Amino acid sequence: MYTCICNAIRECELRRAARVIPGDAEAVYAALGKKPNCGTCLEEADELIHEEREASIPRTRAA
Ligand code: FES
Repeated sequence: MYTCICNAIRECELRRAARVIPGDAEAVYAALGKKPNCGTCLEEADELIHEEREASIPRTRAA
């Protein structure tokens, strides 16, 4: 599924990038060599990036 239609950025591509590229959606797009066009995807992209980073944080066990 595409998150950004204008740049043909798939959700899975955005999630992979979110794990290694810092910053918000615009920063991640830039690192992928893209830039927002219409901008309608940015809110969803920011949420996906945040969600992916939260999920990739190693959890420590409570003692
Ligand atoms: S859908 Fe991403 S910039 Fe238009």
